[in-house]
Amino acid sequence: MKIMVVGGGGREHAIIKKLKENKNVTEIFALPGNGGMAKDATLVPIGAKDIPAIVEFAKSNAIDYAVVAPDDPLVLGCVDALEAVGVPCFGPRANAAIIEGSMVFSKNLMKKYGIPTATYEVFDNAEAALEYVSSCPIPTVVKADGLALGKGVIIAMDRETAIDAVKSIMQEGKFGASGNQIVVEEFLTGPEVSVLAFTDGKAVKPMVSSMDHKRALDNDEGLNTGGMGTIAPNPYYTEEIAAECMEKIFLPTIDAMNKEGRTFKGCLYFGLMLTPSGPKVIEYNCRFGDPETQVVLPLLESDLLEIMMATTNGNLDKCEVKFAKSAACCVIMASKGYPEKYESGYEITISDDVYDSVYVAGAKLSDGKLVNAGGRVLGVTAVEDNLGDAIKSAYNKCKKVDFANAYYRSDIGAKAIKALEG
Ligand code: AMP
Ligand code: GLY
Repeated sequence: MKIMVVGGGGREHAIIKKLKENKNVTEIFALPGNGGMAKDATLVPIGAKDIPAIVEFAKSNAIDYAVVAPDDPLVLGCVDALEAVGVPCFGPRANAAIIEGSMVFSKNLMKKYGIPTATYEVFDNAEAALEYVSSCPIPTVVKADGLALGKGVIIAMDRETAIDAVKSIMQEGKFGASGNQIVVEEFLTGPEVSVLAFTDGKAVKPMVSSMDHKRALDNDEGLNTGGMGTIAPNPYYTEEIAAECMEKIFLPTIDAMNKEGRTFKGCLYFGLMLTPSGPKVIEYNCRFGDPETQVVLPLLESDLLEIMMATTNGNLDKCEVKFAKSAACCVIMASKGYPEKYESGYEITISDDVYDSVYVAGAKLSDGKLVNAGGRVLGVTAVEDNLGDAIKSAYNKCKKVDFANAYYRSDIGAKAIKALEG
């Protein structure tokens, strides 16, 4: 089978490495992929948002199955366009990807169907929003409606920050059209859990839970990033909580999307907060998380391609989705200065014995050498019997990857270990 994976980050590298385990896979194309994946996939210089070119490539190369991984092409209708020319896909159609593409849509969906989430107000004009935040309870959370590269959420610990957030999103257009509407919502507290789930619109099969580390610096200090590391499973996510989430959140969400005529097929990501009054949805993503995927897929014992095709064909209930009882840790190695200014173009060396554990995100081939070309450069994952060993092993492997100005947090998984020690 010839497979095509749309996207170019560490998440896509993890998907590609897992898909290669299926013996029927003869070739994998990455559009555009990145130089660090060249050993695992054929790189095709077509951007993940260039839907006409993606469709043309799929047709002219007789692609048997496509995996559309990032949010942008999903929200823009990449799956719809590929299906229209007969290419079966993993991923939701645009009418279902809106669950991530519009915060206003997802909040209204949860309210309508009684799915637990923070209480909220929606605004489409700055004056009304400013009036509201000048008297609403503080802290509060301001969210741009549309996609904003993961930066559209402002946690306002004081009123001034809330007012500035509304001004910058709605009056100064910080996130462009994504900020035409905003959600202002209740500030929640509690441990966060990421749960990715396969669904064909009928069955829901959650993957092992995970925990992201979003801040740039140790002890959750510094700016928000795309994610500096992950661990799985998340120790806060007990079997009891998992059962509650299935009943009150996962199944009701699938049901709600069906009732709205927006059947969701693919990977639905539940960003949850375990609040004192129960688990609540912080956000939905219409795709695998990054870097959650880099710890979740290495623990998957079942065949990824078979599961993906079952979500497409609507027979996920008959498909085994089994995870190892081990633990995984992924440490992101970034370019120093990320998420602000950083330098790139430094050669990356990866020792052969850790290559299989490395998922490359921001790198390119330059004169035959792999060099860093992004903020988050790569993730290094280790799987061991327990979390403590996985963390140690991931950090040991990081020592076998080198590039100038590399930076990584030194405390990925520390919070989870504390939770385990109770
Ligand atoms: P993202 O949507 O990935 O940019 O992440 C936003 C982050 O903001 C989440 O991971 C939470 O830590 C935090 N957050 C979002 N909504 C709330 C809320 N209602 N209360 C408290 N924290 C929130
Ligand atoms: N790690 C969070 C996300 O993929 O959006």
